[in-house]
Amino acid sequence: MLNRPGQTGETLRSFAQARGRYIGAAVAPGPLLGEPVYAETLAREFNMLTPENALKFGRTHPSRDRYTFQDADAIVAFAQANGMVVRGHTLVWHEVLPRWLTAGAFTRDELLPILHEHITTVVGRYRGQISAWDVVNEALGSDGAWRNTFWYKTIGPEYVDLAFRWAREADPQARLFYNDYGGEGMGRKSDAIYELVQGMRRRGVPIDGVGLQMHVRLDASPEPAEVAASLQRLAALGLAVHITEMDVRIQGPATEEKLTRQASIYRDMLRVCLAAENCGAFVFWGFTDRHSWIPRYFPGWGAALPFDEAYRPKPAYRALIEALKTP
Ligand code: XIL
Repeated sequence: MLNRPGQTGETLRSFAQARGRYIGAAVAPGPLLGEPVYAETLAREFNMLTPENALKFGRTHPSRDRYTFQDADAIVAFAQANGMVVRGHTLVWHEVLPRWLTAGAFTRDELLPILHEHITTVVGRYRGQISAWDVVNEALGSDGAWRNTFWYKTIGPEYVDLAFRWAREADPQARLFYNDYGGEGMGRKSDAIYELVQGMRRRGVPIDGVGLQMHVRLDASPEPAEVAASLQRLAALGLAVHITEMDVRIQGPATEEKLTRQASIYRDMLRVCLAAENCGAFVFWGFTDRHSWIPRYFPGWGAALPFDEAYRPKPAYRALIEALKTP
């Protein structure tokens, strides 16, 4: 049988721990409660969890006067029982919004207290239990301009600063992150993220870090040196970085050759993170190809995660272990 992880005590978690870093995965409550091997693998390999959807606005706040925390509670309880920390994802995003909100025709003066209450309630509920929050997710488009979202249209760009201030009030201990995609290396999007958070720092907005999602493709992934430069300039602003949603999607059949190249991308990105003092966490968007958003959102693509559909470690897993073992 294939080099089963855990047998030797050599796990992603144990090596990450030894280096003082968090290694994590996005999780869904269905398999967590329904498939024992899903929960066992998580507890063995990771010391950080991100609820994949359970904390999004539409899930926690399905009608104006009602909040639901069942799924998020189950994930947080699992993390606590297994000595893991939780990343909260996400308070302000333009997707997974409930209809009562998007169809409510709210004015700015009405929407501000709604957002304030939402942030206060959700962050407040998990005060002391969620160590980092993606306060705002994807406020910028691929070109780096403000994305004309539900929040932006009604409130204007100030929604970002306000969300961070309200989150800080609700849990002063939680580390607050701005999270986005496509800004891992250098370029227009990366510059726009940098300028946004630099402005926030100048204005005294309580931001602690930047989440770089790292949804990459086998045939298009950022240059390690550029990612290193990006981490470095954020460090110079006094900001932490978390790699928050890494996956490496493969088009067509996942041949040995493709899996080997995928492993190098995982290894290279983890190495860059480990070499940067401010890169405290490295999180995958899932961990098994059995449960991944990729095939649904990118038809024809898949096999993006370090474990296969049968929870067997792929070459990427061994490359990640190697990166963690190498001083
Ligand atoms: C995705 C989830 O994986 C899906 O299950 C859901 O249907 C939509 O959202 N960037 C993010 C994540 O910040 O929240 C997204 O997660 C993937 C892209």
